[in-house]
Amino acid sequence: MKIKLYDVRKDEMAAIDAYSKQLGVETEITQDELCADDIRKLDGYDGVSVLGHKKVDRELLEALKEAGIGCISTRTVGFNHIDLNSAKELGIRVCNANYPPNGVAEFTVMLMLIALRKYKPAMWRQGVNDYSLPGLQGKELGKCTVGIIGTGRIGQAVLKNLTGFGCKLIAYDPYPQDSVREIAEYVDLDTLLKTSDIISLHVPLTEDNRYMINAENIAKMKKGVMIVNASRGELVDIDALTEAVESEHVGSVAMDVIEDEVGIYHQSRINDIIKNRKMAYLRQFPNVVLTQHMAFYTDVNVDSMVECGIKAIKEIVETGSSVHEIKL
Ligand code: COI
Repeated sequence: MKIKLYDVRKDEMAAIDAYSKQLGVETEITQDELCADDIRKLDGYDGVSVLGHKKVDRELLEALKEAGIGCISTRTVGFNHIDLNSAKELGIRVCNANYPPNGVAEFTVMLMLIALRKYKPAMWRQGVNDYSLPGLQGKELGKCTVGIIGTGRIGQAVLKNLTGFGCKLIAYDPYPQDSVREIAEYVDLDTLLKTSDIISLHVPLTEDNRYMINAENIAKMKKGVMIVNASRGELVDIDALTEAVESEHVGSVAMDVIEDEVGIYHQSRINDIIKNRKMAYLRQFPNVVLTQHMAFYTDVNVDSMVECGIKAIKEIVETGSSVHEIKL
C-alpha cells in the first residue's frame, strides 16, 4: 500500500511517520503541490493526499486515472477545491478529513471577542506606547444576539461554546438538528440576518452559496452588525462587505478566510508585491480583523488531518469503503 502526500508542512511530518507505521502504509511526502507531470511519474501508488491549496481540476484527475490511481484524500474538512463532478465521471474516489470541531469553534469565539473588544486598535496603540482608552470601548458578548449560519459539527460547537456567555443564540440551517434546539432557536435566514448582532458562517462552500453575504443580504442586517467567517472566503462578496464597512452599516468584521487567499495565506510573502487589493484595503480598517486561515491549526487537528488523509485511502483500497469518503 503506497500513498504520496502533497503540500506537506514540516509540522505534519511526525504524524505522517507515526500513522504510516501504525497503519502499515508506505508514504512518500513532498512539499510541492499535486501536478500532472509528477502524477505521470507515480508508479504503483494506491492514492494521493492533498491539503486543499491548489484546485484539483479535471486535468489532474485525468492524470490520476491514467496513472491508475483511484483515490484522492484531502487532509481538510472543506473539499470545494476538488472537481467532484469530474471525479465522479472518472470513477475517482474522494475522501476528506473530519477533525474535531473544537479548534475552529474556539477560534471563532476568539474572533468575536477580539472584534467586540477592539483588540486590534488596542494592539496598534501599545506598539507606540499609547495606552489611552478613547475609541476602545467594547461591547459584551453576553448582551448580543448571535446568529449561526450552518449547524453542522463546527456551528454546533460554536453554539455550545457561546452558551457560557449568556448571549441569545439563533441559528439557520435547512437541515435543523434536534440537539441544537436545546440551546438555540432555529429561524429563517432573513430573520437571522435582520435580528443578529453577530453573524457567523459555518457552511461548506457550494455552487449555491457563493457570495451568500452580498449587498442584498447585508442590507437586511442590523446597523453595526459584526460578520464572522471561519469557513470559506468565497461565501462573502468582499466588494459588498467593504462598501458596508465604509458606510458603517457593518460595524466590524472578523474573518479567518478571504477570497483569493491561496498563494498568500500559509506562506511568508514578506518581501513580495502582493496583488490582492481587496484584501489589503479591507485589512487596514481598525474594525476589521483578518487572520491567515489558521482557525484549524491546532496540535489535535494536525494529527487528525494526517490520520484521516492516510486512513481514508487505506480503507477504500483494502475494504472498499471509508467513513471519510465523500458521496459523489
Ligand atoms: C479545512 O479543513 O477545511 C480547512 O479550512 C483547513 C485548511 C488547511 C485549508
